[in-house]
Amino acid sequence: EKGGYEHFMLKEIYEQPRSINDCMRGRIYPLEGKIQLGGIKEYAEKFKNAHRIIIVACGTSWHAGLVGEYLIEEYARIPVEVEYASEFRYRNPIISENDIVIAISQSGETADTMAAIEMAKSKGATIFGICNVVGASIPRLSDAGMYTHAGPEIGVASTKAFTAQVTALTLMAFYMAEVKGTLPKTKLIALLSELERIPSLVEKALESDKLILEIAEKFKDSRNALFLGRGSGFPVALEGALKLKEISYIHAEGYPAAEMKHGPIALIDEEMPVIVIATKNSSYEKVISNIQEVKARKGIVVAIVTEGDTDVVKMADYSIEIPASDEAFLPLLATIPLQLLSYHIAVLRGCNVDQPRNLAKSVTVE
Ligand code: F6R
Repeated sequence: EKGGYEHFMLKEIYEQPRSINDCMRGRIYPLEGKIQLGGIKEYAEKFKNAHRIIIVACGTSWHAGLVGEYLIEEYARIPVEVEYASEFRYRNPIISENDIVIAISQSGETADTMAAIEMAKSKGATIFGICNVVGASIPRLSDAGMYTHAGPEIGVASTKAFTAQVTALTLMAFYMAEVKGTLPKTKLIALLSELERIPSLVEKALESDKLILEIAEKFKDSRNALFLGRGSGFPVALEGALKLKEISYIHAEGYPAAEMKHGPIALIDEEMPVIVIATKNSSYEKVISNIQEVKARKGIVVAIVTEGDTDVVKMADYSIEIPASDEAFLPLLATIPLQLLSYHIAVLRGCNVDQPRNLAKSVTVE
């Protein structure tokens, strides 16, 4: 049932070219620059006129929400707020009938996310669910929604469900951009054609597995780790840190790279691994200066770089390449090496990667 893999987590990491493809199947038409989302159709006007989108979720799904914020604001120009369901539900948030609440949940059973939906619904918001488990409670509570189609995820640490959530949010961002007319058709066509290539680029990213295992050997006894990224690389850093802490029990933190100097820099010494998303995109130069700050304090830098990179590779102690693509798809590609890094470190430490201590696959308690 593990398909020849040692753990479900590894199997699920390797399934991602397929699961991302399954999430897009029948939904994108690159030649026409069209996105077809059955669940949204009736709500097209709502999305077009939405004053604001509020994304509610927990854990890894919340990280997907942060990627969604970046994409929706960038392409569809609708203001987005991303909320921890558990915080949102106990505040007295300002919600109106012109707001759309997007709830993201792999299991579709997370108690806090369900309660947040119910509260927002009672205040008149339209609820859109993004779930993986078909027929779960959250899809039933939602006005509309879409399934991520990642297939059953057995490993407690979310991997393929996360990249499928990000894929779903990417489709939503492009869909909203299309209905709102915020993207030139030619640009949308180019983005959709590139999106179609992502499964094969993820396949390529997986080829660094052996190198990542070698890097994992160096860090298996680390006690802390820092993950840095900018823009949509920031939620990727948060997710990288969460994966490492939950399965290897190494304390890890994700930070926006520029925030490092406002505190975490005090932690950096020759024993501190700093994993940096340093791909060639709009924040490349800025990230390079952040790497210099880490190196000046003797931190050990593991950089996720665009293939063919030389500038970062020169400075970093270890570099892991991912294929070049449009910045919109950075989270889908940069997440892959971080999943593998956590996986290998956890296995080398003898941890139960599929069932980490104290964690359950679906959190149905508040
Ligand atoms: C982390 C993880 C959890 C879940 C969180 C929300 O790997 O799996 O952080 O993401 O408990 O669960 P869902 O998405 O089922 O609502």
